[in-house]
Amino acid sequence: MNYEGSRVAKVLGIKYPLIQAPMSWVTDAHLVAAVSEAGGLGVLGPNAGYNTLTTDMNETIERMRSEIRKVRTLTDKPFGLNVLLMSGEALDEFTKSWVTMAAEEGVTHFVSVGNASEQAFGFMKEFGGTIIHRPLTPTVDNMREAEALGADVLVATGYDEGGLIPASALGTFTVVPTMVDAVDIPVMATGGINDRRGVKAAFALGAEGVYIGTRFIVTQESPAADNVKNAIITSGYANMAFVSPLQRSIRTRTADRLAALNLDKQNTLDLDREISKLGGLRPGMLEGNMDEGIVSVNTGIDIIKSNPTVKELIDQLLELN
Ligand SMILES: Cc1cc2nc3c(=O)[nH]c(=O)nc-3n(C[C@H](O)[C@H](O)[C@H](O)COP(=O)(O)O)c2cc1C
Repeated sequence: MNYEGSRVAKVLGIKYPLIQAPMSWVTDAHLVAAVSEAGGLGVLGPNAGYNTLTTDMNETIERMRSEIRKVRTLTDKPFGLNVLLMSGEALDEFTKSWVTMAAEEGVTHFVSVGNASEQAFGFMKEFGGTIIHRPLTPTVDNMREAEALGADVLVATGYDEGGLIPASALGTFTVVPTMVDAVDIPVMATGGINDRRGVKAAFALGAEGVYIGTRFIVTQESPAADNVKNAIITSGYANMAFVSPLQRSIRTRTADRLAALNLDKQNTLDLDREISKLGGLRPGMLEGNMDEGIVSVNTGIDIIKSNPTVKELIDQLLELN
C-alpha cells in the first residue's frame, strides 16, 4: 500500500496515516514518542505516565504538562492529547485549562472524544488546533455535525473496540463505509484492527487511516504490566466477559464478579461507576494486579501473539518491510 499523499498524513503533518489511540493509564511518554518517531501519531491518554490517582484538577493538568515535556525530550515529531468531551457541558472549565496547557506546551493535535460542540471546537481552533474527533457511538448525524463544526479528521468506531464500547452494536465493517459515505473529510477506522489484514480491510472499506488501541498495549514500550501483556497474548475472545453494558474484560476474579452482576437482572449498581471506584484500568492493566482489576481489550485478541517494539509493530501493520 502506498501511503504517499494520504490526506490524513498531510492534515496531521505525519508520515503514515496511523494513530495510536489514547488509553487511560496505559500510555506514557515512551509509547507516544516511539509511535511518533516511527511515523504515526502517538497520543497521550488520561493519567499518562503516572501510577497514582489524583482528583485535583490543577495537579491533573500539571502532571500531563510534565508528561508532554518528557515526550519532547524523546521526539521532535508531532504527537497528540486526548480531550474528553463527555461532561455534558459544551465547554467545561477543566477542558479549557487542559487545552490551554497543551497549547502552552506546543501540542495542537487534539483527539477529542465524546460530544462535539461549537464552543469546544472553537476553543481548540483558537490555538491553531487540529481536531481528530471520535464520537463514542458514531451515527451519520453526529459525524456530519462534527464535520460542520470544524473537525479535521473523524474516527469511526466499531463495536469490536477495546475500552468503552459504542452503545450501538455496529461492527467496524458496517460503521466505516457508512461514515465514509456520510462526510467529505477523512475518516479513520477503529475497532479490532490488530494486524496487517485489519489495516488493509480498513482501507478497502474507504477509511483513510487507522486508529489503533489494544494492539499497542502489547509492545515493548507500552507501560502495561508484563503479566497483562502475556495474558493478552495467551487469551482469546473465549476468555472475555462483559463487565458492564459498555465494557469488556479478559476474565479475572474481579471481571467475573462484575460480569455476574451485569447478567443479573436484579442488579441496580452502575457497573461503570463500580469499575471507576476500583481504580479504573490502573490495578489490572498498569499494576498487573489482575485479581483486583479488569483488562479491557478488543474482541480480536486471539490474533495478538507477540510483544514487538512499536517500530516493529508499525512496520508489520503497514507492511513497510
Ligand atoms: C485499555 C483501554 C483504555 C482506553 N481508554 C480510553 C481513554 O481514556 N480515552 C479515549 O478516548 N479512549 C479510550 N480507549 C479507546 C481507544 O482510544 C480506542 O478507541 C480503541 O482502543 C480502539 O479500538 P481497538 O482497541 O480495537 O484498537 C481505551 C481503549 C482501551 C483498550
